[in-house]
Amino acid sequence: MTTCDIIQVINISKNFGQTIALDQVSFTIKEGETLCIIGMSGSGKSTLLKMINQLLLPSKGQIIFDGKNIESFVPIELRRQIGYVLQQPALFPHWTIRKNIGLVPRLLNWPSEKIQKRIDELLQLMQLPSGHFADRYPSQLSGGQQQRVGIARALAARPKAMLYDEPFSSLDPMTRSDLRKEVLYLKKNLNITNVFVTHHIREAFSLGDKVLILHKGRKIQHGTPDEIRSQPANEFVTEFIKTGYEE
Ligand SMILES: Nc1ncnc2c1ncn2[C@@H]1O[C@H](COP(=O)(O)OP(=O)(O)O)[C@@H](O)[C@H]1O
Ligand SMILES: [Mg+2]
Repeated sequence: MTTCDIIQVINISKNFGQTIALDQVSFTIKEGETLCIIGMSGSGKSTLLKMINQLLLPSKGQIIFDGKNIESFVPIELRRQIGYVLQQPALFPHWTIRKNIGLVPRLLNWPSEKIQKRIDELLQLMQLPSGHFADRYPSQLSGGQQQRVGIARALAARPKAMLYDEPFSSLDPMTRSDLRKEVLYLKKNLNITNVFVTHHIREAFSLGDKVLILHKGRKIQHGTPDEIRSQPANEFVTEFIKTGYEE
């Protein structure tokens, strides 16, 4: 089987009033690939992710997911196919972990036995033994454990793609490194396409098959970590890599 482009971003621009958040950005992502998007605060990373799952519409250009224009999907169908993980997992505080993870399968009316089985599988996958965690509430978990639940919830309905928006930013370095390993494990073991936003250059280079560098809403470079390290597109990229490693 040949791998094909699952996500095509074609000449996307987005403005909010006078602010140009994205300026004619194009790139493609192959099925099963992990793309890390990196750039300074305000460079347009979150705006780009939100357009991939239709939380925002582009001002110009189009996005194709799995051969179809994003705008032609029914939103719930897109949510099933694209999992979304945010910096703060935004779990429902009065729902147990089990109920939180089952959110999308319930919306899709899966039979309850199938939902329970899937939740147990996901708890195991995310190394949260269900005997300990399933019936707790989010406030009874650490930040890292809550983020594992956030990832489990996003994976629940077996999406084709996962979007991560700086998911580890509020975690301490040890927890961050554990979760990075977990994402690498998922990447190797589930054939899911990942779009991972971060402002840590090390994280981008260790997780990404490809890395996209954004600056002031423009695409500056798109390539493998090796290509970017050996042939930085310009002085900005050289500096960005250097200062990122000094952090
Ligand atoms: N809803 C919004 N309304 C107005 N401006 C916005 C909105 N969302 C983002 N922006 C602006 O668009 C630019 C890109 O923002 P964002 O995509 O959040 O950047 P990043 O995630 O890279 O930090 C910034 O200048 C930001 O202030
Ligand atoms: Mg952001």
